[in-house]
Amino acid sequence: MSAEQRITGRTGILFILADPVAHVVGSDRLNARFAAEGLDMAVSPLHVQPKDLAAVIGTLRLLQNVRGFGVTIPHKIAVMPLLDAVTPRARLIGAVNFVRRNPGGRLTGDNLDGQGFVDGLAASGIGLAGRRVLQLGAGGAGRAVAFAVAEAGASALFIHNRTAARAQALAEAVGAAWPGCAAASGPDDPRGFDVVINTTSMGMHEGDPLPMDVGRLAASTDVAEIIMTPALTPLLVAAQARGCRISLGTSMLDAQYGLVKQLLGIPS
Ligand SMILES: NC(=O)c1ccc[n+]([C@@H]2O[C@H](COP(=O)([O-])OP(=O)(O)OC[C@H]3O[C@@H](n4cnc5c(N)ncnc54)[C@H](OP(=O)(O)O)[C@@H]3O)[C@@H](O)[C@H]2O)c1
Repeated sequence: MSAEQRITGRTGILFILADPVAHVVGSDRLNARFAAEGLDMAVSPLHVQPKDLAAVIGTLRLLQNVRGFGVTIPHKIAVMPLLDAVTPRARLIGAVNFVRRNPGGRLTGDNLDGQGFVDGLAASGIGLAGRRVLQLGAGGAGRAVAFAVAEAGASALFIHNRTAARAQALAEAVGAAWPGCAAASGPDDPRGFDVVINTTSMGMHEGDPLPMDVGRLAASTDVAEIIMTPALTPLLVAAQARGCRISLGTSMLDAQYGLVKQLLGIPS
């Protein structure tokens, strides 16, 4: 929080619900952006255990100066039945990561991860329309990314995952939702793809093997990460060394600022 930021009775209050909570950085990034724009909003992480989620959601409905809240691990799926409505994209993804609280206490959940990824990629100068995409990983964030990549107009989306059945199920769901995108599961060979996206957690921890064989990466292939720490993962370092354009995982989070404002009805 910057020295200039003041929290008063007029401030719009947001929370980020997580368990554990120590790693949460989204609150700090949102506060910095709100302060930079002179918006009277403030965000705090809240450590909420799964057994208390329903009680906390019930209380948040009653708090009149709360504008909304983010939800992260492990609450993204569990929060859904506790809300009044979820957007079609959150329903498709099967998870919510931000909730708007209307003045009467009505709660609407959305999932901004995928659109945040696409917007972050665009901010890095990388487009998706008409391009062939290889996605590594089909976990929670990977689901959000896959639907958004297809929605953004990728011509083909191949998904590779350690648990192959999850990649296949995701490819089928994406293909059904976005028939214009040829979606399939397959190997992790990047040859012939315009964009490679790592949505696995491989690269978060020192000593993790690379999520794919970077020796097969062409300089013309763009490489994107969703891992935020470290910002420059070994995959991105290797891709850069091969002459590829890259997009950092932090771009995905930063792009969600504008989407949170949109969801809350804060004019840009
Ligand atoms: N930048 C952002 O705004 C943002 C937002 C959300 C998440 N993230 C990051 O995205 C990453 C994934 O998060 P998530 O919530 O999607 O996690 P998740 O649901 O647990 O999914 C993890 C993915 O990584 C794969 N994986 C894990 N360990 C592996 C291994 N040893 N070998 C091969 N594949 C492995 C999993 O494959 P299986 O299906 O086979 O288990 C799955 O595809 C994390 O680093 C998280 O911090 C970033």
